[in-house]
Amino acid sequence: MTNQAARRVLIPGGNGAVGEGAVRAYLATGAEVVVPTRTEQRADEFRELLGDAATGHLHLFAHDYSTFEGAEALAVTMQDRLGGIDDVVAPIGGWWAGKRLWEIDAADWDDAFTGLATTHMAVARAVMPRLSGRGAYAIVVGESAAYPVPGSGLVSMEQAAVLMMQRVLAAEAGDEKRIHALVLGPVRTRLVAGEASWVSAEQVGAVAVALSRSPGESSREVSLRTGADAELILARLA
Ligand SMILES: NC(=O)c1ccc[n+]([C@@H]2O[C@H](COP(=O)([O-])OP(=O)(O)OC[C@H]3O[C@@H](n4cnc5c(N)ncnc54)[C@H](OP(=O)(O)O)[C@@H]3O)[C@@H](O)[C@H]2O)c1
Repeated sequence: MTNQAARRVLIPGGNGAVGEGAVRAYLATGAEVVVPTRTEQRADEFRELLGDAATGHLHLFAHDYSTFEGAEALAVTMQDRLGGIDDVVAPIGGWWAGKRLWEIDAADWDDAFTGLATTHMAVARAVMPRLSGRGAYAIVVGESAAYPVPGSGLVSMEQAAVLMMQRVLAAEAGDEKRIHALVLGPVRTRLVAGEASWVSAEQVGAVAVALSRSPGESSREVSLRTGADAELILARLA
């Protein structure tokens, strides 16, 4: 057991390809790890995937946290059952591609922009008042937040909005709470083998835990373009 043992950690998006790394990293510390997913099926599949790593410290269940009401109910339940929230890792989202901006329809806009941005906002507004200040809130975005990707413009727009949300939250929280952005390059995950130089989901999880355990690391944007970036940060925080 480490000093993370009593930590109460919320990982919305934890059953996703990137989120798996954060879930495994926090479970390995003995923390209480809460992972909501929007369907029972995804919850069952993820539990099976985790195998023995799915200890009694994993709280994995179907719950729709993509609305203000749903996220609020989730945060209230964590407060009631676990006594509070110490850490959040939010790898909410996925990739979207195939149309130029002037070709999208209302459904694309809802799915790839409004739905995801609303979910990040819903989680942030529910969690921030209840965040203990012991740990940190890490919002996960891709490098596409900072440059345009033709044919995937909605991803760039949504990620840029979420990155700005992290900056505003950090500015508003001041010294009281630490709000980080993990800005990722392409990630090696259970779904994409990728290249050896890419950062892995495991490394993303390790960096989230290390930042949480480093109270001296005030709110910041952490670039994880490659695995080497992650190893440098982990060495610095060790
Ligand atoms: N994979 C990469 O190579 C890569 C690279 C750079 C950045 N990133 C960033 O990492 C984050 C996670 O990506 P990923 O590849 O892990 O995606 P993923 O495998 O598709 O997982 C996405 C997760 O987000 C949740 N989610 C998706 N849409 C949602 C919505 N509208 N409302 C609420 N929850 C939603 C899903 O929950 P449900 O189980 O409820 O569906 C799932 O847990 C994204 O921000 C992405 O931009 C990924």
